[in-house]
Amino acid sequence: MLGLGASGPALAIGLAFAALGFSDSVLLARGATVSAKPAADPCAKIAGQTFVLPADAFACQKSFPFNQTLRSNVLEVVSRVFDFYTFEEYYLRSPPPFQESTSNIRGELDRISKAHYATDYDFNRDLYDFAHQLNDGHTAWFPACYNSFQNLLPAPIVSLEVNGTQNVFIIPDLVEFISLVGTNYTSFFDKIGFDWKRLAGAKVLSIAGRNAYDYVDHIATTASGNYLDHGVRVNSVFSSYRIVNTDFSQRFGDLAGPVFVDQNSLTFTLIPVGSTREETVEIPFFATFVGMPFTDKASFWANNCAANSATNGVDLKTQQGQQRQTPHIQTGPTSRPPAKGVIMDLSAIKAVALPPTFQPTLPQVNASAGVIKSYILPDKKTGVMFVGSFEGDFVQFQTDTVSAVDAFQKAGVSRVLIDLTDNGGGFVCLGEFLHQYLAGSNFGYAGFQSTARGNPLAVKLVANNIALNLTNTNYSPANWQFLNGTAFDETHNYMDPTEPLVVNGVSNPTSQRFGDICTPFNVPVPATPPFDLSQVAIVSNGDCASTCAMFSTVMNERHGTKFAVFGGKPGENVEFKGMAGNQVLEWADIDTEIKTANLKNDPLAPPDLLVNANFRHNWRTAWSYFDETRPIAYVSELPKLRFAYTPETYNNPQNLWTFAATQLFK
Ligand SMILES: *[C@@H]1O[C@H](CO)[C@@H](O)[C@H](O)[C@H]1NC(C)=O
Ligand SMILES: *[C@@H]1O[C@H](CO)[C@@H](O)[C@H](O)[C@H]1NC(C)=O
Ligand SMILES: *[C@@H]1O[C@H](CO)[C@@H](O)[C@H](O)[C@H]1NC(C)=O
Ligand SMILES: *[C@@H]1O[C@H](CO)[C@@H](O)[C@H](O)[C@H]1NC(C)=O
Ligand SMILES: *[C@@H]1O[C@H](CO)[C@@H](O)[C@H](O)[C@H]1NC(C)=O
Ligand SMILES: *[C@@H]1O[C@H](CO)[C@@H](O)[C@H](O)[C@H]1NC(C)=O
Repeated sequence: MLGLGASGPALAIGLAFAALGFSDSVLLARGATVSAKPAADPCAKIAGQTFVLPADAFACQKSFPFNQTLRSNVLEVVSRVFDFYTFEEYYLRSPPPFQESTSNIRGELDRISKAHYATDYDFNRDLYDFAHQLNDGHTAWFPACYNSFQNLLPAPIVSLEVNGTQNVFIIPDLVEFISLVGTNYTSFFDKIGFDWKRLAGAKVLSIAGRNAYDYVDHIATTASGNYLDHGVRVNSVFSSYRIVNTDFSQRFGDLAGPVFVDQNSLTFTLIPVGSTREETVEIPFFATFVGMPFTDKASFWANNCAANSATNGVDLKTQQGQQRQTPHIQTGPTSRPPAKGVIMDLSAIKAVALPPTFQPTLPQVNASAGVIKSYILPDKKTGVMFVGSFEGDFVQFQTDTVSAVDAFQKAGVSRVLIDLTDNGGGFVCLGEFLHQYLAGSNFGYAGFQSTARGNPLAVKLVANNIALNLTNTNYSPANWQFLNGTAFDETHNYMDPTEPLVVNGVSNPTSQRFGDICTPFNVPVPATPPFDLSQVAIVSNGDCASTCAMFSTVMNERHGTKFAVFGGKPGENVEFKGMAGNQVLEWADIDTEIKTANLKNDPLAPPDLLVNANFRHNWRTAWSYFDETRPIAYVSELPKLRFAYTPETYNNPQNLWTFAATQLFK
């Protein structure tokens, strides 16, 4: 059976689109009329299909009534996890230039606990939006039930400078890019007679009735989340090149690839390439399924929405708990869960490739199958390391770095350009590794001063870790060190006493300050810098999350490294980092800490979640070297250079590096 477009409503909407030339609001009314005839089981209707009409997906998601038991359970978990959130009080009055993120977290939770919702979706959506708009990708609500589809518009946008002026455009490589989504996607548009190919490179004047850049700001404010800095969020609205897993990819961007399926179309005013005439085009969305297979409403709930064996944490002291743990990384004397600082970008689940014609044509030095791709530019002086993330194979990241640096040195390269575009972070210790490798081991500790929140349950967690001799947990003193580099004794209680911290007039005690233990690394690190550090520069689009933000910040704060950020909206700043906590704990992680420390029955402990979801939080703060009273997340650190993307560079990393080398190494 053909999986898409074969149903009656799709055809009806297709005819409507064809008949009305895509620009009449009757169209949507007609589409809505068609799908308003409720199927007996709205989920059965779309079962087994890889691509579906957003309205059909939405009907399935909205078919579950609001349930007070689930709300109470979720809000109890969320509220008690917020007790561990290191940035809570900063939100009462977010310091400039991050004012947009100001939020009264407890007030919002109270509002959500009392609001009237018709459906379970409505409750979850409100909670998602509130948490997402804290603009800290480490702290967010991910309900698997409602993150089970992704809406895709065949019109991703970028901001490009052409003839000296910046404008919003539909991506010029639209045909190459959208074709890679597959014929199950594109045949839908063929069927309804919508010619998306003619939109490639069109100049966009307005979207949904607003000036194009204003609409981009609107998406950055209401939908993008993840990054404290507004300018960084603007760049995540646009399409961009990136590495997902170990492959070159192009991101749809938050305008064209939203997480929710509540939009059926978006109206653009644009001027197609080769035309001078402004036209209004209603562009339809078509959604892709990214959840677990189901056959009907009951199995959709069971497989996507109800808690499963991986939802909640485990007691690591039991055999079962030990088996469920991910492999530990050997970091110094003990083995512990690897500290991570990483974004959760749902758009990476079904990533689309960067069309091969835009991928680098230079040979990779020491061809790596890992997250780092390295090249020597034709000038023979510049080595490039495109560091796609700090995730993946922990050891290969290090051996790839060694290989790249060796190859650069052998070739007589004198300057190094590091590309961190769309780097979502990963292992905290790999960020410290890359800095250490470039700065040399003589430089010493490559991390930040760090703290966790000293709430009453956290105080008990450390005390119980010591009493139970735990070493394989995050709260165990065995896994941290004094700021002078001496490891904590296994019985060193770094929460006794807690240290006072007052933020926005509210007391929020923290742990004593401590450092990461990342050494020894798996490869030998040179004692001194392999390249003159003044000849190391960094480019990105600012969407550099977490471990990437920490690596960038340490390069800026300790070495004054030259940064160039590309893209953004003309006239608006873009920071080179936008999500700069020190470590994230997923819901299952903090629950595992609580269960392993025998505190699950403590009155302050959260219950198990009844639904399949994750409420992650920023568990540790990294403090700035510039000002040890401020988290790096709240220190504005702007790049020295800012460039617009051009049609030659926005999707072509090699062209971008070639240009950047001429600007950064003058
Ligand atoms: C296209 O859709 C059909 C039916 O849903 C499915 O069997 C097939 O695997 C899909 N193809 C791709 C490439 O996803
Ligand atoms: C609400 O959810 C709980 C927990 O899953 C379930 O036991 C109960 O039956 C649900 N209530 C309704 C009215 O569906
Ligand atoms: C840029 O200038 C060229 C030559 O004058 C012109 O053909 C082209 O349409 C211009 N492009 C835009 C987007 O203004
Ligand atoms: C790759 O790097 C390793 C380690 O530096 C080196 O031994 C090897 O010769 C390199 N291979 C190539 C093809 O350059
Ligand atoms: C923890 O270690 C100490 C010292 O080795 C020992 O006395 C104590 O019994 C251990 N506690 C547990 C719960 O294993
Ligand atoms: C580091 O600091 C701790 C705590 O103040 C102290 O006990 C330890 O001796 C120091 N280590 C060194 C090498 O100075």
